[in-house]
Amino acid sequence: MQDISTRLVNAGKVEAREFINTINPPLHRASTVLFDSYADQQKCNAGEYEGIAYGLCGMAAQNAFEAAMVELEGAHGCKAFQSGIAAIAMVLMAYTKQGDHILICDNVYGPTRYFSDKFLSKYGVEAEYLPSDAGAGVADYIRENTTLLFMESPGSNTLEIQDIPAIAKVCRENGVVSVIDNTWATPLYLNPFELGVDVSIHSVTKYITGHSDILLGSVSTNEKYWGTFESCYNVFEAYAPQEDCYQALRGLRSLPFRLKRHEVSALEIANWLESHDMVESVLHPALESHPQHDLWKRDFTGSSGLFSFTLKEEYEDIDHGPFVDGLELFGIGYSWGGFKSLITGGKFKRTNHYGYEGKTIFRLSIGLEDVEDLKADLGQGLEKLRK
Ligand SMILES: Cc1ncc(COP(=O)(O)O)c(C=O)c1O
Repeated sequence: MQDISTRLVNAGKVEAREFINTINPPLHRASTVLFDSYADQQKCNAGEYEGIAYGLCGMAAQNAFEAAMVELEGAHGCKAFQSGIAAIAMVLMAYTKQGDHILICDNVYGPTRYFSDKFLSKYGVEAEYLPSDAGAGVADYIRENTTLLFMESPGSNTLEIQDIPAIAKVCRENGVVSVIDNTWATPLYLNPFELGVDVSIHSVTKYITGHSDILLGSVSTNEKYWGTFESCYNVFEAYAPQEDCYQALRGLRSLPFRLKRHEVSALEIANWLESHDMVESVLHPALESHPQHDLWKRDFTGSSGLFSFTLKEEYEDIDHGPFVDGLELFGIGYSWGGFKSLITGGKFKRTNHYGYEGKTIFRLSIGLEDVEDLKADLGQGLEKLRK
């Protein structure tokens, strides 16, 4: 009989090849993956082994989620990441090198800007910000050393829509990789590859998982840009947690139904706010009043549950605490796309063409609650500010 320590190390080992035909993929936890033979390990040393050799690379749940995203987006390949911002950072690193110039639409998610300004700059990459309505005019910003252009449409606070096909065309003509953060629309409401974009990023944290309990990101590319991306990914061993990939795959199953509910409720609330006597403007691309509504109608097949609004001048320079704290159904919190409705607010800082400088923008993420309950809650909250 072997010693208890030896027996404990080897007890209960499940043969990985033991096949149980569940509908959902199995979950693996791994660092070491065993070879069948010394010959296989020699093949791996020589770079000729085709199986899974190490870490979480190629595990079932991640593979299944990535394959589902490839199918939904019509991409060549997809990789999952520990978070949306990890996915964004990897894209920005994969396609840049010292001395490069990159263009970023100025409505991007704050940490995307932060990563470019504070981190990429250390490696000699210069980021320049474009007005989000530049359209084909982005050609004027392209330099000899421009390698990448980053869009976020709509912007996740201010909801500007970019002319995606026009920008992608200029990128293609100039050998610049075009990238979009497609989190707001999800793969269901916008297909960037059909519009000529090269790389699509999602914060899977939002609608795809939908339950505010997971951080996950994804990057999909077309065939041309896959090799460069995959080799950068492999260097970083940036494998996503398998349990989170599993949950993201589960989220995809119900995404159309949840997203439709977010869409319908958000539109109803946006329309109601637009006619509210204390509201100055509602920033929602599916409203006809939105400055790029026509672009949204042309390129998107739906709208999700995130939008913003501002209050009339007389309600600007007052304490908004009674409104926000007085809401019963809206949590005050960052991130979005989950089942619970959320609100955030703050002074608009960046200068852009909308004239929102210095205004307080309230951002709503409309969840899955009953829309009449949500309207009633917002209504009673706003009354707390009435003069
Ligand atoms: C548009 C957008 N992209 C990316 C991210 C980052 O996602 P994550 O929280 O998964 O890192 C966010 C997060 O709020 C976002 O709003």
